[in-house]
Amino acid sequence: MEIRGVLTLRKRQVLIFFVLLGLSEAHTESVRYSVAEETEIGSFVANLARDLGLGMEELSSRGARVVSDDNEKHLHLDLLTGDLLLNEKLDREELCGSSEPCVLHFQVVLENPLQFFRAELHVKDINDHSPAFLDKEILIKISESTTIGTTFLMESAQDLDVGSNSLQNYTISPNSHFYIKIRDSGDRKIYPELVLDRALDHEKEPELRLTLTALDGGSPPKSGTTLVLIEVLDINDNAPEFPQSLYEVQVLEDTPLGSRIITISAKDLDAGNYGKISYTFFHASEDIRKTFEINTISGEINLRSSLDFEVIQSYTINIQATDGGGLSEKCTLLVKVIDINDNPPEVTMSSITKTIPENASETLVALFSVRDQDAGDNGRMVCSIQDDLPFFLKPTFKNFFTLLSEKALDRESRDEYNITITVTDLGTPRLQTQYNITVLISDVNDNAPAFTQTSYTLFVQENNSPALHIGSVSATDRDSGTNAQVTYSLLPPQDPHLPLASLVSINADNGHLFALRSLDYEALQAFEFRVGATDRGSPALSSEALVRVVVVDDNDNSPFVLYPLQNGSAPCTELVPRAAEAGYLVTKVVAVDGDSGQNAWLSFQLLKATEPGLFSVWAHNGEVRTARRLSERDAAKHRLVVLVKDNGEPPLSATVTLHVLLVDGFSQPYLPLPEAAPDQAQDDLLTVYLVIALASVSSLFLFSVLLLVAVRLCRRDRAALGGRFSVPEGHFPGHLVDISGTGTLSQSYQYEVCLTGGSEASEFKFLKPVILNLPPQGNEVEKAPPF
Ligand SMILES: *[C@@H]1O[C@H](CO)[C@@H](O)[C@H](O)[C@H]1NC(C)=O
Ligand SMILES: *[C@@H]1O[C@H](CO)[C@@H](O)[C@H](O)[C@H]1NC(C)=O
Ligand SMILES: *[C@@H]1O[C@H](CO)[C@@H](O)[C@H](O)[C@H]1NC(C)=O
Ligand SMILES: *[C@@H]1O[C@H](CO)[C@@H](O)[C@H](O)[C@H]1NC(C)=O
Ligand SMILES: *[C@@H]1O[C@H](CO)[C@@H](O)[C@H](O)[C@H]1NC(C)=O
Repeated sequence: MEIRGVLTLRKRQVLIFFVLLGLSEAHTESVRYSVAEETEIGSFVANLARDLGLGMEELSSRGARVVSDDNEKHLHLDLLTGDLLLNEKLDREELCGSSEPCVLHFQVVLENPLQFFRAELHVKDINDHSPAFLDKEILIKISESTTIGTTFLMESAQDLDVGSNSLQNYTISPNSHFYIKIRDSGDRKIYPELVLDRALDHEKEPELRLTLTALDGGSPPKSGTTLVLIEVLDINDNAPEFPQSLYEVQVLEDTPLGSRIITISAKDLDAGNYGKISYTFFHASEDIRKTFEINTISGEINLRSSLDFEVIQSYTINIQATDGGGLSEKCTLLVKVIDINDNPPEVTMSSITKTIPENASETLVALFSVRDQDAGDNGRMVCSIQDDLPFFLKPTFKNFFTLLSEKALDRESRDEYNITITVTDLGTPRLQTQYNITVLISDVNDNAPAFTQTSYTLFVQENNSPALHIGSVSATDRDSGTNAQVTYSLLPPQDPHLPLASLVSINADNGHLFALRSLDYEALQAFEFRVGATDRGSPALSSEALVRVVVVDDNDNSPFVLYPLQNGSAPCTELVPRAAEAGYLVTKVVAVDGDSGQNAWLSFQLLKATEPGLFSVWAHNGEVRTARRLSERDAAKHRLVVLVKDNGEPPLSATVTLHVLLVDGFSQPYLPLPEAAPDQAQDDLLTVYLVIALASVSSLFLFSVLLLVAVRLCRRDRAALGGRFSVPEGHFPGHLVDISGTGTLSQSYQYEVCLTGGSEASEFKFLKPVILNLPPQGNEVEKAPPF
């Protein structure tokens, strides 16, 4: 643009030079006038008549006129006044451009004679143009790293005016970074240069808007402006920055995977790629990489694998933020893992005694330790066992506990304890662990065997087969094992005469009792002995029980007729007066039975009679009576056979033969009386006292006859009786003889039959009076056998 301006200027200079050459040929002298441009049309410039020395008339007569060199009619000559006036407004810039001075050459032509006058009009500049920039806006890109003092050439403005009215100065709007330096090109043209005065900072001021003003030298000066837009180009002059160098975050250890822990965010003041931050772990351990992941773009840190407070309580993570230009910054993230109660207490058994003896007190059952890996309350523990057990826990060293028995235990009441050790922590929720111990109580021989009964009574039939099982005793022992194994034995009899060893035996293992031989009720009706039960403990414990064996009678004895004697040297003959009334008591058959009970109940029955119908026998008492009145026709001698039968099964019987002689005379019952007083015993004679007593008959019973037979068998020479019978001499006390005539006695008596077996101990004996104390061995004499 400047170049074009220069060219135009030169063309005009050439033209002006040419015009001047042409004029100089015509006239050497020229008149000079000047006028300011833009002066109004018709304005007076000069009075030519006076200046040329011509008269008014001469001008008009000689046809004076003004001819411009450029043939333009800039000027007008008033022929009447001779004044030269402006024919148009002159624009200096149009006429001369930038050339200065601006001169319009013209001739004043006169005819008759032809005469030329050269003249020139100087068009003077006025400040009628402002400086102007071709562009309304100028964009300049300047890097922020540009050093101070750097200059930037600016486009210059144009001002068509010349001289002092032309462009003189440039100014820039006030700012803190630039000032304007004017550069003079030497051809009177000036250029503005922007000089960096203070460093730019893209981050603070990415762009500046300045106004460049061009000023001319007019008075007043005119100006033109343009906007200078300065774009400050960024350089990576900023590293990313973290708002804090240390981040701290607390994370529950049960945080689900994938959860966001924190988002770290750094700032980078740079723009564009230089401001793009990527986040990474810096020098991270394997643990950290495994557990966390970081989003390189957003800086979000997420949980990748589960946390475990018990393994790692905190992580120190270095995080690096790097911008696109490679600048980086670091910060530290402290992740504190917060414990949650995720570990139940643990019980570790150090020693355990599964079996303790029952009599031991405060015995150590178990030694164990507890632990909980959680922290705080989550790790504090309470240890307990059931309340209702005779055991207790005792804290010992640190977290060690002992489990002890409280007191001596009784295996027999409980031989097994299930102890549950419960350890509970105090966390939320509470976690607990149980450990079960089964403690067995071992036996100590603290219980003697116990018989099921303190005494046993066994019944046996007599005449049993030898080795017969007659019964059992049984004892139990509450202990266990060998302490409970019971052995039975017979204890030595209290009566040293009892031949126990030959009577019974016991099975040591099961307590079964056996009769060793056949028992004879008539010889031994009952006997007692003690049995012992002993366990196999150490020391052994034992107990005893009484066994009473009652021999049950068997009907093995036939009735024995005591009266009348059947084979006495003098067989009895009963005398009956012929005058006897019917029912006269002839005699009474007296019999005994060695058995007892039913087996000894006797009944009488008339089996044969010389004269049937004359005599009758009372079935129950053996009384023989006349059945009718006697007469002279009845024979004198009678023979009766009476059957005596017991009530056993099968019944046994005996017969007795009675001789009856009918006589004339008295009608008293016959009683054979001893010939001599008892105390003066006739040793040669067998003396028999028979006392027959008939008890009164009550209204309730058919009859009740109590018979007392006192038999005194005295024989000096035992051989006469085969050595079988031996009856003590003399009266028995309390024996009463009734001879009132009714044949009845109101008092009962006992009879005693003494059958001594001499030297033969094996023979049984009926012995002893009732009045005497019972012998200890229980060998009793039966009292008044009932009918
Ligand atoms: C240009 O203008 C500035 C500010 O107004 C002034 O200080 C300076 O002297 C001027 N320069 C000229 C050559 O007039
Ligand atoms: C327990 O019983 C055993 C065997 O009888 C005995 O040796 C021991 O002394 C008893 N202990 C106590 C504490 O009584
Ligand atoms: C102890 O536990 C065992 C096994 O569970 C069981 O068989 C036994 O009956 C329990 N004993 C007691 C006394 O509870
Ligand atoms: C311990 O015993 C209790 C009660 O018998 C039972 O409920 C529990 O399941 C047992 N615990 C273990 C670990 O065997
Ligand atoms: C009676 O006779 C029987 C058999 O005839 C005989 O066994 C018995 O010993 C005799 N008794 C007396 C007392 O003579």
